[in-house]
Order: sequence, then C-alpha cells, then structure tokens
Amino acid sequence: MLTCQRDKFQLQGKISYLNCAYMSPMMKKVEKAGINGIMAKRKPYKIMAEDFFKDGETARLLFSQLINSPDTNRNVLIPSASYGLANVAKNLPKKKGEIVVVEGQFPSNIYPWMSEKAYKLVTIARPKDLQNGGKKWNEDILMAINQNTAAVAIGHVHWADGTLFDLRAIREATRKHHAALVIDGTQSVGALPFDWQQIQPDALICAGYKWLMGPYGLGMAYYGEMFDQGTPIENNWINRKDAENFAGLVNYKEQYLEGSLRYEVGEHSNFILLPMLIAAMKQIIKWDPASIQDYCEALMKDSLHTLRENGFRIADDDQRAHHLFGIRLPKNVNMETVQKQLKAKKVNVSLRGDAIRVSPHVYNQPKDVNRLTGALMAALHQ
Ligand SMILES: Cc1ncc(COP(=O)(O)O)c(C=O)c1O
Repeated sequence: MLTCQRDKFQLQGKISYLNCAYMSPMMKKVEKAGINGIMAKRKPYKIMAEDFFKDGETARLLFSQLINSPDTNRNVLIPSASYGLANVAKNLPKKKGEIVVVEGQFPSNIYPWMSEKAYKLVTIARPKDLQNGGKKWNEDILMAINQNTAAVAIGHVHWADGTLFDLRAIREATRKHHAALVIDGTQSVGALPFDWQQIQPDALICAGYKWLMGPYGLGMAYYGEMFDQGTPIENNWINRKDAENFAGLVNYKEQYLEGSLRYEVGEHSNFILLPMLIAAMKQIIKWDPASIQDYCEALMKDSLHTLRENGFRIADDDQRAHHLFGIRLPKNVNMETVQKQLKAKKVNVSLRGDAIRVSPHVYNQPKDVNRLTGALMAALHQ
C-alpha cells in the first residue's frame, strides 16, 4: 500500500487541494525537468538532430507501459485532447452515422464531432436515480449501439462525477456493429488502470496535465490501425518520411510517417514540456494506477461513510472511480453555503453540474479529507 507522497510535491500546508481533475500540482522532479529544458536552450549548439526524436521515443514507450499496449509507435504526442480528437473525427473510416456520447460530456469530445456534419450525435441521458445509476447508464449506452453507430466516443469515467463506463462491454458491442471505440482518457489514464489488451480501443486520447501529471500543453494519444491511412489535420515536416535527414528536408515527400505517427503535433520535440511529461509518467508507472486507486479509496472511506449517513449522496462504490467522484447535497443544504464553508476551511474542489467533484491523489492526507468533511457537515448544520 502506498504511503502519502506529499514530499514529492510543492504543496502548501494551508490549502487542501482535492482537485487533481482540474489540474495536477507539480511534482518537484517534473519542475526540475522543465527548468533543465529551459536552460538547455541557452546553448542551442548542444541540441543535436537526434535530440528532436529521442525524448519522443521515450514518451511513447512509457505511455505503452502505462496502458499495457504492445506497439509503442501507435502512441503520439498531442498538445490537447481536442487536437487528438480532431484527428479522430476527421479520419473515421465510417464517413457518416451516429456518434454515441453521454450527457454532460466534456466539450473536447463533442465539438470535433459537431463540426463533421455527416455525423449525428446521440446523447445518452444520465439516469435520474443515483442508486445503481452507473449500471443503468451503461445499459442505456449498450442499447444505443447498432448498425447506424459510427463510433462510441466516451471517457472511461465521467469527468464531472466519476461514473465508470464499462469499456469492455462497450467494446464488444461496437465490434459487433463495426463501430469505432474512441476514448477520452484525460480524466482517468494515470490514476485508473487502463489495460489496452482488454479493451483494444481504436483511439485513446489523453490531455497530459491532470492524471498524467505533466505540464499544460502536452498529452498522449494512441491511434489504432483504423487510422493508418488517414490525413492528419496539420502538415508538419517532422511527420513526413525521412524527416530525420535534416540536410534533405527540401526533398519534399508525399508520404507521411507510417501509421499513427502522422498524427503527432508539430514541434513535438518540445525541449521543455516533453522532459516534464516523461518525468511525470515515470513516477506514475512506479506508483502504479491500481495503487493510486487503493490509496484514494482508503483515504476517503471514513469520510464518505459519515457523509452518506448524513444524507449526502455519492454513487455506489463499484460504479464510480476512487480518484474522482461527485458528492451531491441533501435537499436542505444549499450550494452557496457549502461553497462558503469550503472556502473558509481552504478546501479546493470543483463544482460540476449538481455535484461537488472531489478528486484526491497520493499527495493528499487525512487532514485534507477531514477539512472537506468538516466543511460539508458545517453546511448541513447551518
Ligand atoms: C474529459 C476531459 N477531456 C479533456 C479535457 C481537456 O481538453 P483539452 O485538452 O482539449 O483542453 C478535460 C478538461 O477538463 C476533460 O475533463
């Protein structure tokens, strides 16, 4: 069992930061990697042609390890989830049909589909009842997949309240109907185990600044075979055949790099952000996402028991994640009072829809959770 890893971060004692779903705090070693990257540009003459490629290879390898996928060259660097998903939406082999999404989904996995006019979004509503809500939601998603489905484009968890989506069952249904499975892993990969071997999605897109604990502006994406012949949304030189031959760059090439590498963002050799993302992924692999879940579960257990006993509503444990979940208020408690109490007790969480979104990590300690419980109980008694 992991112990608290707070000493690896630069967090102040005064604030209880239970909001990794908003943005992870910076690990000391990630910050150091970034500073080294900044300083490296003092001496550009030391940056060699091979340096444009080698850190990218390391990032690919680490991401493969993290998601248990065999083919490192299917992983690419992306600047944002929306960028990664734009490449998916433009290159889906089924050129028309329905895209199954869920209610209240993050816009980065909605707008790319809305902008492709041949697709029709089919939104699966959140069940009204919280009890067994996750189970019902998954059943409704499965029911919506049919021969008209071009893709299911969904998260592993809902970004607002951590509802778990049953990707294995969804994968089975999409296979049966020759539909793609596109996963936005931004709110899960790094903190919740993701096993490529079990799910085999067609695309997995992750912004890097939340659960991958990297910098803002660099994330990772996996593109499966389905996208091997596609046309990327940008035309950068480094994704063309023979790009590593700097002397021959103006022998312009028609061919992209093979397979998924064509979807990598321009200037992905980013000498500051990339070493930061690498340092972060290395640490996450050492911790192991399964252990991160266990840590968060143990950390929150007593608090959630108390809150439930006092009328706060939290989804059933087996239908939500432990690193990200929603707390819904009893009827007589108003959100404004809760927000005041959270502020007074210096607890940082997010408000998403009708839920208080709590998203702990291994830097959190019982003191943080006690403050959260204290703030909510104080609001109850006002
Ligand atoms: C589920 C999900 N996807 C993606 C993002 C970020 O998207 P982008 O990288 O396009 O800014 C967020 C940010 O909160 C998110 O919650």
